[in-house]
Amino acid sequence: MIFSEDFVENVREQNDILEVVSSYVTVAKKGHNYMGLCPFHPEKTPSFCVYHSTNSFYCFGCGAGGDVITFIMLAEKLQYREAVEFLANKAGISIPKYDENDDFLDRKTIFAMNRLSAKFFFSCLMDRENKLALNYLLSRGLLKKTIVHFGLGYSKSDGYSLVNFLKKNGFSDEKIEKANLGVKTKNNFLRDRFVNRIMFPIIDVKGNVIGFGARSLDNKIPKYLNTAETIAFNKSENLFALNFAKNQEYFILTEGYMDAVALYQLGFKSAIASLGTSLTLGQAKLISRYTSKIYVCYDSDAAGRKATKRAIEILKKENLDVKIIEMKDAKDPDEFVKINKGQSALKFKFLIKSSKNSIEFKISELENKFDINKIEEKVSFLKEVSKIISEIYDPIERDVYSSKICSKYGILKSAFDLKIKKNLQKKNKIALASLKKNQKFAHSGSLYIEEFLISCIIKNNDLMVYFDDFSGNDFSDKVSSELFIKIRALLSSGKAVSFSSLSAGFDQKKTGEISRILNLNASVDVSESEFLKYFGIFKQRKEINNFKLSENLEDNKILKFLDKLKKSKV
Ligand code: CTP
Ligand code: MN
Repeated sequence: MIFSEDFVENVREQNDILEVVSSYVTVAKKGHNYMGLCPFHPEKTPSFCVYHSTNSFYCFGCGAGGDVITFIMLAEKLQYREAVEFLANKAGISIPKYDENDDFLDRKTIFAMNRLSAKFFFSCLMDRENKLALNYLLSRGLLKKTIVHFGLGYSKSDGYSLVNFLKKNGFSDEKIEKANLGVKTKNNFLRDRFVNRIMFPIIDVKGNVIGFGARSLDNKIPKYLNTAETIAFNKSENLFALNFAKNQEYFILTEGYMDAVALYQLGFKSAIASLGTSLTLGQAKLISRYTSKIYVCYDSDAAGRKATKRAIEILKKENLDVKIIEMKDAKDPDEFVKINKGQSALKFKFLIKSSKNSIEFKISELENKFDINKIEEKVSFLKEVSKIISEIYDPIERDVYSSKICSKYGILKSAFDLKIKKNLQKKNKIALASLKKNQKFAHSGSLYIEEFLISCIIKNNDLMVYFDDFSGNDFSDKVSSELFIKIRALLSSGKAVSFSSLSAGFDQKKTGEISRILNLNASVDVSESEFLKYFGIFKQRKEINNFKLSENLEDNKILKFLDKLKKSKV
């Protein structure tokens, strides 16, 4: 279980860092702050600093630093959760009782209620009494079997049918409200959340009905109303029709429920739609779990094209192969299907075939934006295009686009390539600067990281496999470096790694150090993921060190590395 942010914040606030630290270290006021001997590494002159105003600490000697929770984690050798509990007890704050199963059970109840509601909505749709709703869907070109397949439904206009139905089935007001199937009126009366709407059940990949999208039938706004956030429904982490599309080779991402349904009916089972918000990174991640190729097929208006540009960037972050489907004469896929009647499947296949990649799409966007017949606009246009081409990592790919543009717009390739080269230089300079900043960051706390890693290896020799590509030189701390070399030598000659075998040959001062490192996490179990987190930082530092400032600035190597760095989020 995770503590709520509020709870942790309260624990932080109730534990004055100065008071907490003072029971471990003697600190004296210096200027605005307090200094003392660092409890985390041996030293003779104080380099451990407490910043009372920000409730944090930092040691200039070993780089240890953080808030009061970090301090307790280090001082008491506790895991995060244990440290929070330790401090909560210290401040007399009661720790919330929490049963991990609670949420799960609640979610299961909501899934059950949603499923039951979907069936209810479906039966209402099929009820002769509500034939207007069914006729609406049929008039939009949906076949009965499509309606059944998606389990579409109808929420009646009286405003209480569903709530009554759920109550009859034994669900309490509280549960109905929690599932957002009912909402309280001002008079505390529970009424249906969805009134006179076509219901689209939203089903996750496991088959749970997590929520609903609902289209108004009477021009009531909003046109579409979705289930609000519940513990079972998070609209930025799910996608409509993913449950049907998940095994397809590629996906077609649309903006609307009706678009996905219409494409499905036409035979494109890979159609999905976001849930009434613009695409999120969470959704891109979800997509990338099932496919590496995605066609974006958004509305053809300006808003749709803008959303497409945004979606490309998000999908690219997950390394998806992104293609863009453009419809000229229809506003959205649903309309495309309708307009083209019997031809629509064939025509849509053609659209898929002639889809653009993201670079082509961006260039065509610029072609629409500028009037190339005007000299100045043509210059601006080509400059903008050169920027887009500069984003490509692969030099051959860059050259292909560059050649194409130059011949299309009648300009000298050498001039255009020079511009690209300049763009790259500029971008790389910025990238290098940010890399250096990163380097600084990676170096702070490096002593603690190295000692931590060494202590982990001593505790679990198997971890040495991670260090195959490393040598003593990769450790910036002298003792850590020497210990690393020694551990490797001991292991490769089949000897045991122990305090005595490690300290053999070192003087007394060093053996003290070794003992301290050895005991760094002797009393706690370090999880593999925690080890890997620190190892990741350590490895990254080596990679950064390998970059020379003299790196070829015409290449995108640094940018690519930075990209990777950002993705790894260590
Ligand atoms: N949407 C929403 N809330 C709104 C309008 C739209 O959540 N008030 C979401 C819905 O998921 C909808 C999508 O945005 O499916 C696309 O909206 P829009 O283009 O307006 O509707 P269409 O899909 O074209 O719907 P229809 O064809 O039914 O008019
Ligand atoms: Mn539409």
